[in-house]
Formats: sequence, structure tokens, C-alpha cells
Amino acid sequence: MKFEFGQFVPTVDWVQLKTMAVEVAERAYAPYSNYPVGAAALVSDGRFVVGCNVENASYGVGLCAECGLVSALYASGGGRLIAFVCVNREGTVIMPCGRCRQLLFEHGGPDLLVQTPQGVLPMSEILPQAFGPADLDRVRER
Ligand code: THU
Repeated sequence: MKFEFGQFVPTVDWVQLKTMAVEVAERAYAPYSNYPVGAAALVSDGRFVVGCNVENASYGVGLCAECGLVSALYASGGGRLIAFVCVNREGTVIMPCGRCRQLLFEHGGPDLLVQTPQGVLPMSEILPQAFGPADLDRVRER
């Protein structure tokens, strides 16, 4: 990630963030995949939000941990996502699925920092050339 002069670089306690993700993974409802996931994020105002996956007997209806996290973001006052991590039941950092990268992009943009198995990467690197709200705005302006 390239840093520019004057750019805001948040201080992120990744150990604490991951601990929160590990804890919330224990509350996941994943009886079908038996693959609990926990997600945690730092919000622009300094608070934390978490989420866990919640599956369903109608398999396709299952909610990823990121869905719960984004709902928690709005339920607790909104804001922008600054830093994000998700883990499996072993506490291993996993990549957010493709759909959830899109979900996170909407609420964190290209600068959202994501902990990955290869280190911390900006969303712009794990969802390059993302489609987002700006694409809709460009058409609306005409
Ligand atoms: N899962 C998540 O919660 N987030 C991801 O980014 C990857 C996958 C969940 C969905 C499903 O409940 C389980 O992991 C197995 O795919």
C-alpha cells in the first residue's frame, strides 16, 4: 500500500481485533457447514463491531459473519469501516468471500485495511477495480 503525505494512517490493534473475531466465532450458528466464522472491525469513530455466521436449514439463506457485522455497524450508529479481520474456529485468519468483499467495500471503500493470511492489505488489492456507489452516482449525474 502506498502512503501519501498528509494521509490519515489509523493505529489498529490487530491483536485485539483478532481476539474479538475469535470470541464471536464461538457464538456462530453453523450446524450445516460446521465452519464457524467470526468477524471484527474497527469503525471510524473508534468503536468495534463484530459478527458471526448464521446458517439456515434452507442452505442458501445462510448469512456470512460479515453480514452480521455490517448490520451491527448500522444498528450501533453507522460510520465507516477502517480495519477488518475474520477467522475460522481454529482462530486462523481467512479471506472474506467474494460477496462479502463487495459488502465490505460499500462500507469501507478501497482504503479499508483487511487482515489476510498474507498480511494487512487494503481492500483495493483484494477487490481490485471494484464496482461501487460511485458507479451509480456517475450515471445519476447525467
Ligand atoms: N463464511 C463467512 O461467514 N464469511 C466468509 O467470508 C466465508 C464463509 C461462512 C459461510 C458459511 O456459513 C460457512 O462460512 C462455510 O462456508
